[in-house]
Amino acid sequence: MFIRATSTLQAVLLLLLSSSPLLFGQSAAASAPRSALPLRPRFDEDPGRIINGTLATMEATRHQVSLRRRLNDGYFFGTGHICGGSLIRPNVVLSAAHCFVDQIIYDGTFISKDDLIVVMGNLDRFNQTNTLVFDIVRLVLQVEKFDLSTYNNDIALIFLSGSAPTNHPTVRPIPLTEVALDTGTVCQVTGWGLTEEGYSADFLMTVDVPLISGDDCKSTSELGDLVGPGMVCAGYLEGERDACSGDSGGPLVCQSKLAGVVSWGIGCAEPLLPGVYTEVSYYFTWIEERIAEYENEQGSGSGEEGSGEEGSGEEGSGEEGSGEEGSGEEGSGSGSGDGDGANNIFVNSFSIAFPIVVSITHFVQIN
Ligand SMILES: *[C@@H]1O[C@H](CO)[C@@H](O)[C@H](O)[C@H]1NC(C)=O
Ligand SMILES: *[C@@H]1O[C@H](CO)[C@@H](O)[C@H](O)[C@H]1NC(C)=O
Repeated sequence: MFIRATSTLQAVLLLLLSSSPLLFGQSAAASAPRSALPLRPRFDEDPGRIINGTLATMEATRHQVSLRRRLNDGYFFGTGHICGGSLIRPNVVLSAAHCFVDQIIYDGTFISKDDLIVVMGNLDRFNQTNTLVFDIVRLVLQVEKFDLSTYNNDIALIFLSGSAPTNHPTVRPIPLTEVALDTGTVCQVTGWGLTEEGYSADFLMTVDVPLISGDDCKSTSELGDLVGPGMVCAGYLEGERDACSGDSGGPLVCQSKLAGVVSWGIGCAEPLLPGVYTEVSYYFTWIEERIAEYENEQGSGSGEEGSGEEGSGEEGSGEEGSGEEGSGEEGSGSGSGDGDGANNIFVNSFSIAFPIVVSITHFVQIN
């Protein structure tokens, strides 16, 4: 059964707005890491870096996208970058749920999908040649609130406002890995950000890292039980090469298929602390089902049915961004497609404006 996050999240926001001090206290306690070692998201004020990587090639990274703060990028193209992602269909991107966590409240509450845009098509994130820029019409997450102490369910399925043309010179979707891969499989992780030398890498960087299965990672690294279900590690136990903050949501590609989504780590490129990735094969069925559902809705939306859950509204019915969901009344579509059993959270536009302006500084790249 589908749960619509909108109304619940609105309630949370209202509470936060009306009684912030109390809630801040509670949420701080609730989100305290259960380990002494702080989990480090792979994006934050630190623009991040691929440690000891090399320049990526367009041929190998046509699927790479950049998730950006709409406001920042509006001021200067390229400065809004907060996370990576992978194009997995002409109109669908896979990324990390924690990229959508509000960095000011920081209790796991998600920002509105309308705050971010998706950009792809050039290795230089400041270069607009060949780029495609899309809005997010639907964001599908597995949880209503992100668990910052475990990073469980760190997966985000993003439906775009348009499709990349099949003949685009620099953009192409990547297929997904369907079955778990063996430890030792050599993979590539890519991302934008600062290099270990400390200057800004405007160009996409890449580094080869061997995969470490979840079980092996638990037993051979110092991450132990922090490696939860649906997580896989990659890196060298001696450290030195790794993804880091700024690379979150980006692709881990093994054998030319998307095997992982950059999720978290403790430090970067530290010995015995490999990077942790959301394991794509673990979520494969969920991803395929959500895409099929979306495609069905798109198809049936133009049919004669019209009434039903969907409401009539393609564009223009609700105000900002309600998009394909249409109806404009929260929750009108709840209950469609039950029996499915999975926890799917559709994050559509919120009617409460988020304090975006306050959070800008957290995402500004310092170059
Ligand atoms: C922008 O990218 C295009 C295509 O990769 C390249 O030909 C061009 O030289 C770049 N422009 C700058 C200013 O780097
Ligand atoms: C990068 O690699 C070099 C040589 O392998 C190593 O000495 C250095 O520590 C690495 N850098 C980081 C930040 O791990």
